[in-house]
Amino acid sequence: MDKVKKEILISKPEIDDRVQSLADEISRDYEGKDLVLICILKGAFVFMADLIRCLCIPCRVDFVRLASYGTGTVSSGSIMITKDIETPIYGTDVLIVEDIVDTGLTLSFLVDKLKEKGPRSLKVCVLLDKKERRQVPFNAEYVGFDIPDRFVVGYGLDFNEMYRFLPDVYVIQED
Ligand code: PRP
Repeated sequence: MDKVKKEILISKPEIDDRVQSLADEISRDYEGKDLVLICILKGAFVFMADLIRCLCIPCRVDFVRLASYGTGTVSSGSIMITKDIETPIYGTDVLIVEDIVDTGLTLSFLVDKLKEKGPRSLKVCVLLDKKERRQVPFNAEYVGFDIPDRFVVGYGLDFNEMYRFLPDVYVIQED
């Protein structure tokens, strides 16, 4: 782990400002609606925790955990839900909260699955968007930052389950 070099890509103050702006936008858009925020574990838990505390409208929260299967470092695109939400979302206004969209496979899968439960509306809020990595077309309605195709950690994102605790987002490079 000492051989991993890291440099800050997005500082905590920059994240805080952007999270507040996203929350302001969401508070305006969902005023008077039945908002349910769904956090994708594990990576999005830090973003979710900060985002809800910047909202000024009531909301419910729930959590989903997904697993993807593939060989080695290459995802096969086969995804399954290992922990489903417990909140009935039929007729509610659902906002999925995710740390990063990369190939788009995870969010495309989850959006399709949640639509089957009949929410009145379903949108996605991501902190980080690596648009150049898309394998399937996917656009989130709320995006914190567009980032280049680099491996990022911190603010909930991991490398081998490490670094999630870091307050800033870092780019890492292994020697
Ligand atoms: C990461 C990230 C997203 C997904 C994005 O999760 O948190 O859920 O990959 O990739 P995609 O757009 O290519 O599908 P990961 O599988 O690393 O799990 P974690 O959130 O538990 O760290």
